[in-house]
Amino acid sequence: MIDAIEQHTSIEDLKNILDKNWRDGYTIPSARLYPFQWNWDAGFIALALSYTNQHRAMQEVDFMFKSQWDNGMLPHIAFHQPNENYFPGPEVWKTDNLKGSAKLVSTTGITQPPVFGFILKRMHQQMQSNPNWQGFLEKIFPKVVAFHRYLYQHRDPHQEGLVYIQHNWESGTDNSPLWDHIFETMDVSKARDVSHLRKDNKLVDASERPTNENYKRYIHLIDLFVACGYDDATIAETSPFLVQDVLFNSMLVKSNFGLIELGKYLNLDVTEIENWNKKSIQAINDKFWDETSGFYYAFDLRSNKRIPIKVSSGFMPLFAGVASSEQAASLVKHLTQSFMKNDAWFACASCAFDEPSFNPLKYWRGPVWINVNWMIYHGLKKYGFPDMASRIKKDSMELVERHGCFEYFDPRPVGEAQEKRGIGADLFSWSAALYLDFVYNKEIL
Ligand code: GLC
Repeated sequence: MIDAIEQHTSIEDLKNILDKNWRDGYTIPSARLYPFQWNWDAGFIALALSYTNQHRAMQEVDFMFKSQWDNGMLPHIAFHQPNENYFPGPEVWKTDNLKGSAKLVSTTGITQPPVFGFILKRMHQQMQSNPNWQGFLEKIFPKVVAFHRYLYQHRDPHQEGLVYIQHNWESGTDNSPLWDHIFETMDVSKARDVSHLRKDNKLVDASERPTNENYKRYIHLIDLFVACGYDDATIAETSPFLVQDVLFNSMLVKSNFGLIELGKYLNLDVTEIENWNKKSIQAINDKFWDETSGFYYAFDLRSNKRIPIKVSSGFMPLFAGVASSEQAASLVKHLTQSFMKNDAWFACASCAFDEPSFNPLKYWRGPVWINVNWMIYHGLKKYGFPDMASRIKKDSMELVERHGCFEYFDPRPVGEAQEKRGIGADLFSWSAALYLDFVYNKEIL
């Protein structure tokens, strides 16, 4: 697959990206669009640093956990240093003087997918021989457990073993079509117009970004959280956005598995984590799995309905290891028919080609993401689909090598794809980080 615009990105170039994005203790996802430390990005980045700079790898995690709230919540952004180039900044989140928020750093008031359990487990492979690792692990382990405990205690009102997200930015798949119906029906009579405050649509092509109408709703949710002092019980009762997401809950299970292993290594009692995980695994299969179509779907707690849109998050139970072999076979069918098409397309689209909302250029509505591919790759390997796994790895690496280290990529074949296949933020840290993991670590996670 050769496109018009090509370049050659080497391993050294990728290491340099991580170096350039380093900010004295943590790594930013990308200078142009994301000038702070992001939660799940920090996990993927720390993993790469465990191969290239172990001191920084520990600092990366440490800095993220500086942002943790007293109740265990791990914010989606830590604003370690001020920066004018981002909206919404601390002045919108208003968490600085909130009781129980982080003391050392300004943060947002929402979280992101819980990746640190499985990330630390994978870092442990490389870091065991580092003299500082044991002490670091002993210090960080209870903080990750506290984050999971927060999720189970405050984000699972019916004690189902499934936790909810309260904002599309908590999902990690920010602009996914999964949230469309919520935003379309949201009462915005009291929402404010924020179009003049936005920075994102001035920094990259506005046609690739969410609309002002969407942003109005994103900020309206935050304003509601601020008004109730980020009280979880009030949010669970009154907020219009309350979704049990497949990716988020799969990350939680995968991270629980990581914590169980690390906890045993540290000689700690892991019964609480094992109990969480048993319940979550069962609930993912009971509530998200649709027998008729043979796919996993998110559940909207507000309207009490599944969200019947096929997106790549539906493959995350493979990564988490919660699907049966029959379920895995059905998922693979969907993958080949609706997310990879044939060899001319790059694997894997973030939304099924046959969904009306599929869009190859808008983020999380079609383009390929390297972190999603990396997780699907590991899931497929585990379930015995080595050829398909190799194809996904090959496509991921080729995209980065030939088209640059972008945030996401147009999946369409040569001729149909836009000339510049790499889209969104450039010099994007997790694309570099997970390419490096593909290169340096052959073990299946
Ligand atoms: C985008 C992604 C989100 C990521 C952030 C920083 O908003 O949707 O998952 O964490 O960028 O890279």
